[in-house]
Amino acid sequence: MSKLSSLLIGIKVQSRLQQLHSCQFLKMSVDISSLRIRYKDRSETFLEEHLVAKEPFAQFHSWFEQAKSNAKILEPNAMCLSTATKDGKPSGRFVLCKGYGKDGFKFFTNLESRKAGELKENPNAALTFYWEAMNRSIRIEGVVGTLSNEESETYFHARPVPSQIGASASHQSQPIQSRDVLCDREKILEEKYTEKGITVPKPDFWGGYILKPHTVEFWQGQRDRLHDRIRFRLPAEGEVADGVLLHQGENGWVYERLSP
Ligand SMILES: Cc1cc2nc3c(=O)[nH]c(=O)nc-3n(C[C@H](O)[C@H](O)[C@H](O)COP(=O)(O)O)c2cc1C
Repeated sequence: MSKLSSLLIGIKVQSRLQQLHSCQFLKMSVDISSLRIRYKDRSETFLEEHLVAKEPFAQFHSWFEQAKSNAKILEPNAMCLSTATKDGKPSGRFVLCKGYGKDGFKFFTNLESRKAGELKENPNAALTFYWEAMNRSIRIEGVVGTLSNEESETYFHARPVPSQIGASASHQSQPIQSRDVLCDREKILEEKYTEKGITVPKPDFWGGYILKPHTVEFWQGQRDRLHDRIRFRLPAEGEVADGVLLHQGENGWVYERLSP
């Protein structure tokens, strides 16, 4: 028997075993209640005195820089974007944060996708970062607006050409008959643009959003499960910091410690 045929038989056997394993799984419920890792110990708590600023953007920057330089965190800018329909049905997916500052957090996507449809009817959204290697998470809530066409255009052309082609070929979130359909569209676009050295035009259905936060929570997991949570928010009208539960921050922000 040739090496190739024994390899193919091996693959078939392996895939049959995986199918059998999956069938068995369907008959039971998997208990993973003992799965847990050790978070930070008492010497590394996150206290109010550790805040680099009494407002969330500089604090985000500080934690993000640490996540960026942590070799165990490969995509520090991956964040879960949660949206909801106007009648409150939620959905979440990961997107990449492509910029942040006091104006908000930016991401780019297909403007005809499911998330875009939900943002159009309900601009309230949330972003969640999780940096497992640092036992840290940041939760951001706010209102989403669109970025200018020029900014979307600039970022679109800063991406590698295959990504530009991919974004142009995909009718994101729409059902598609097979992967081949997508590959055929990709090939047509490659012939039209890449092979002729023509710049791929940014499709009208692709662009950027910015989420302007009203609430940002910094969470750090502690070993004894007494996790640290410090939440910044813009105060409700007339709400005054009492210096006990609610503290006055900078630039109009207030902050408070939340129970874990
Ligand atoms: C780590 C990661 C990063 C992603 N980044 C993006 C992104 O920046 N933009 C995007 O449109 N989709 C991104 N995706 C794919 C989305 O999660 C999602 O599949 C897609 O946007 C369609 O979502 P929707 O149907 O809810 O609109 C990413 C997925 C992962 C896992």
